[in-house]
Amino acid sequence: MKIEPFSIERWFGRYEFTARHNIAESCVKPFTLSELADLCGADVFHGDRPVGLGYTDSRGLPELREEIARLYPGRGPENVLVTAGAIEANFLVFGALLGPGDTVISEFPAYQQLYEVPRSLGAEVKLWHLEAEKGFRADISELEGLVAQGARMIVINHPHNPTGAAIDSGSMAAVCEIAEQRGAYLLSDEVYRGLSLSDAVASPSAQRFSDDAVSVGSMSKAYGLSGLRIGWVVGPGEVIEKCLTLRDYTSICPAGPSQLLAMAALRNAEKVLARNRAIARKNFAILDEWVRANSGLVSYVPPKEGVVAFVKYAPQAPSLDMATEIVTQDGVLVVPGSCFEMEGYFRIGFGGDTATLETGLALLATRLESKLPPRDAR
Ligand SMILES: Cc1ncc(COP(=O)(O)O)c(C=O)c1O
Repeated sequence: MKIEPFSIERWFGRYEFTARHNIAESCVKPFTLSELADLCGADVFHGDRPVGLGYTDSRGLPELREEIARLYPGRGPENVLVTAGAIEANFLVFGALLGPGDTVISEFPAYQQLYEVPRSLGAEVKLWHLEAEKGFRADISELEGLVAQGARMIVINHPHNPTGAAIDSGSMAAVCEIAEQRGAYLLSDEVYRGLSLSDAVASPSAQRFSDDAVSVGSMSKAYGLSGLRIGWVVGPGEVIEKCLTLRDYTSICPAGPSQLLAMAALRNAEKVLARNRAIARKNFAILDEWVRANSGLVSYVPPKEGVVAFVKYAPQAPSLDMATEIVTQDGVLVVPGSCFEMEGYFRIGFGGDTATLETGLALLATRLESKLPPRDAR
């Protein structure tokens, strides 16, 4: 399989665990095992029953599939495949459903996997551009134009990485209808659902509007449990079967202990999400204030959900150079826009430790200021 390097993973590979002030992550501050146990008020390993450490059902534990199915009214455990994170889920969906010569429509900018894997499978990818001038909103008329010559698959991701843009019910319903009418698969990557930054906004699942839609979810982002490496595919039975055939060649089954922890978290989802939403909203207020206070240096379309923001910076310099200087000189890790093939931007993650965010943002502003001409010369 020939595939381009995954830019963001290579960037994180260099600095993620060594940078002093990491404000780049897309997850909420991860739980520790004891914090999760305290919050769930239970034995997270379900000690009341024998827990084997062997392989599990290759679809995932039946009880976990039931918990996941509950998130999607109308779907049952037979519609769920538990995977090693959403990244395996997306990979299986693409691998199972796409081949050379297919046309795929994928939003852009995007998490690189969502267009790179289809390309590596020989598909032609047409980019559905989300524009800053339109608030990074998914413009349905654009999709209609792109799909006019047919498509095998439409790929969307809302809440959106890297912008934090939401999708409203009307637009999601329209995307589902277009996919159904055109006989295209719809892959809806919904890993950031559950982290609304205000009560007024919550991107719906595609499952609400179409029995044919395929949705991907994860314990990593909204649940703050990225280390479990648990994600899932939800969709029609025949798609689940095709993904299962491929997964027999990738991971055989999801990790058993991780499935038990995921089950505990989902059974206490209200409490887990309340903890995470509180972190996201508190830190978002700090980020928003910082953007306002530094309007000569940065600007953004405020994110609506999730814990990432796509911040435009004023100095005229390549994002990779800037981000490299900032991490090596100041110890502040952001994601350069180049990881999303978008120059002039950083992706900032605000789901982590509050003090780290405050320090990181202050240092970032100072560095950006130093890159501009003196104030009286601007
Ligand atoms: C849009 C999107 N999909 C999938 C993933 C992979 O998530 P997971 O940790 O569940 O594999 C990410 C991670 O950043 C993401 O941003």
